[in-house]
Amino acid sequence: MKRIVVLISGQGSNLDAIVRASEAQDWPGRVVAVISNRAEARGLQSAQAHGIAAESLDHKAFADRPAFDAALAERIDRHAPDLVVLAGFMRILTPAFVARYEGRMLNIHPSLLPSFTGLNTHRRAIEEGCKVAGATVHFVSAQLDHGPIVAQAVVPVLAGDDEASLAKRVLAAEHELYPRAVGWFVKGELELKDGRVTHRGREPQGWLA
Ligand code: GAR
Repeated sequence: MKRIVVLISGQGSNLDAIVRASEAQDWPGRVVAVISNRAEARGLQSAQAHGIAAESLDHKAFADRPAFDAALAERIDRHAPDLVVLAGFMRILTPAFVARYEGRMLNIHPSLLPSFTGLNTHRRAIEEGCKVAGATVHFVSAQLDHGPIVAQAVVPVLAGDDEASLAKRVLAAEHELYPRAVGWFVKGELELKDGRVTHRGREPQGWLA
């Protein structure tokens, strides 16, 4: 059984989707802990409701980013994870932290990478006149939002969309995409080699949500 630690900062709807998937009988992974950098994150309550260890570690209590990341790594490692899942974890990570979990840390980003790294992805996609948007699951690398892509889901940008309506559509796609990608990892079906990802020996296909 693969052990998963999920890092969150907010509502944790992707966390919920992964926990739901993990409760399926043939799913060889369990979320063993959820850690948030914000004590008030709703996802912590949701984790507790599922009997999952839920902890917070306030980044503001640390002098700098390396100090926070070192403390966070220490907390994570207590749970001996096979996989670290970033699910709406809104912190930039130091290279040392990223290196520690190389090949075993996934992130979901609400855009079709490599377009729209960083924040405000939906607003920027609408402003640019994009006709499709989506979400990307990728292995985390030192460069923000640039790691090897595991899976992508595409949604339409509809006439009249605003940031909120597009965000809602993308988030619904994320709830399909992330559990699927995490499932591939825990089943041992993903391979990361020379910066490219294969799933059961093939390039994973993207899909229209
Ligand atoms: C999701 O849309 C996720 O893609 C995004 O935050 C949201 C978290 O929602 N992540 C990032 O922007 C990371 N750069 P959730 O807390 O309901 O899962």
